[in-house]
Amino acid sequence: MTMNAKSLYEKYVVPSYKRFDLTFSHGSGSRLTDVDGKEYLDMGGGIAVSCLGHGHPELVDTLREQAGKMLHISNLYYHEGQGSLAEAIVNLIAPGKCFFCNSGAEANEGLFKLARKFGHDEGRYEIITARNSFHGRTLAGIAATGQDKVKTGFEPIMPGFRHVPFNDIDAVKSAISPSTVAVMIEGIQGEGGITPAKIDYMLALRRLCDERKLLLLMDEVQCGFFRTGKFLGYQRLLEGVEGGESFLPDGVSMAKSLAAGFPMGMFWTRERYADLLGPGAHASTFGGTPLACAVALKVMEIVRRDGLDANARDSGELIMNRLRELAQRFPGIITDVRGLGFIIGFELAEAKSVKAFGSSDAPSSLQFVERLHEAGLLTVPAGARVVRLLPPLNLSKDDAEHAVSIIRKVVEDVAS
Ligand SMILES: Cc1ncc(COP(=O)(O)O)c(C=O)c1O
Repeated sequence: MTMNAKSLYEKYVVPSYKRFDLTFSHGSGSRLTDVDGKEYLDMGGGIAVSCLGHGHPELVDTLREQAGKMLHISNLYYHEGQGSLAEAIVNLIAPGKCFFCNSGAEANEGLFKLARKFGHDEGRYEIITARNSFHGRTLAGIAATGQDKVKTGFEPIMPGFRHVPFNDIDAVKSAISPSTVAVMIEGIQGEGGITPAKIDYMLALRRLCDERKLLLLMDEVQCGFFRTGKFLGYQRLLEGVEGGESFLPDGVSMAKSLAAGFPMGMFWTRERYADLLGPGAHASTFGGTPLACAVALKVMEIVRRDGLDANARDSGELIMNRLRELAQRFPGIITDVRGLGFIIGFELAEAKSVKAFGSSDAPSSLQFVERLHEAGLLTVPAGARVVRLLPPLNLSKDDAEHAVSIIRKVVEDVAS
């Protein structure tokens, strides 16, 4: 069976992913089962997507019901779900409006277009982003992403983006030109290695954007949707901070967990820019279908009813505390632990400085993740040295402890 799926992929699927040698057949809750019947605790959550785990019965019912009622119409008409979902999101951010699409890259594309429209009459179009950021794989997405590895081979890169070091306000100031129209950052850099934006940096960015008439855009695709314990990552980062409650970006992009695995993306923009993209300015055939919106509304209802934001916050802290204890015991293996709620990264020493990893050229993150897989825990690397945990928001405390015990065992094995 395993060979079958793998060999079909090898023959018929464009090889653009470096896949693990794992073939899954089904899942339930926070567990996935492979075709040989081996069960894994899913701490990667489909890369921050499966926020209710697998096969959630209420989601399955919603999908069935809505598919039978009205699956798709088109954005030439109205339906209740899209309006209600937009209202729910606006209530969780601030007055403004939403545009619905199908992925994170598409959500960011929408924000780039919004920014270009905003600056158009003044000839401003350039967007400043951070080094090590990740904003998607479309042509504008790779141009916006501050990592060379996504750009190589796709030159000429779309003009209109500049990268500066993350968390460095002076670098942003120096990069502003007469063409600059916006700044985009992630609340917590995900692919770049789970690096949170600093509070002072965010507050200074807001002031700078106001002074220089720039849009401040937050990419919350990975760190958003209650993962940090608040709806959006920046809201959690600024919680309890003086001046934090008045912080408001001009645009926010989201996708991933929004419909818990049903493809959906969206961007929100604040009231003063909400009508910039008028009729005919932007569109997406599948954006905000009745099915996607019904699922997203149900996900939001479940997260709030079951207090899953608080669960992410509490269990995330528990996991991080345990990882920090491990880092203290094994400083030669775990060199840092970062994150908030259920977006967690632990940084490993370089492969060449860990004896157990020395015989392979593979980065330490990949070698560690492979050992976790063998031990029954699924997760994903972020770059060469960081291992990411992005579990379902409804992960039980027992599963959180279980995940830590597997990681501990692998660290002990690597250290021995
Ligand atoms: C912060 C961020 N932005 C954008 C994207 C792109 O999202 P998608 O793969 O849905 O296009 C990702 C995906 O990992 C992401 O982490």
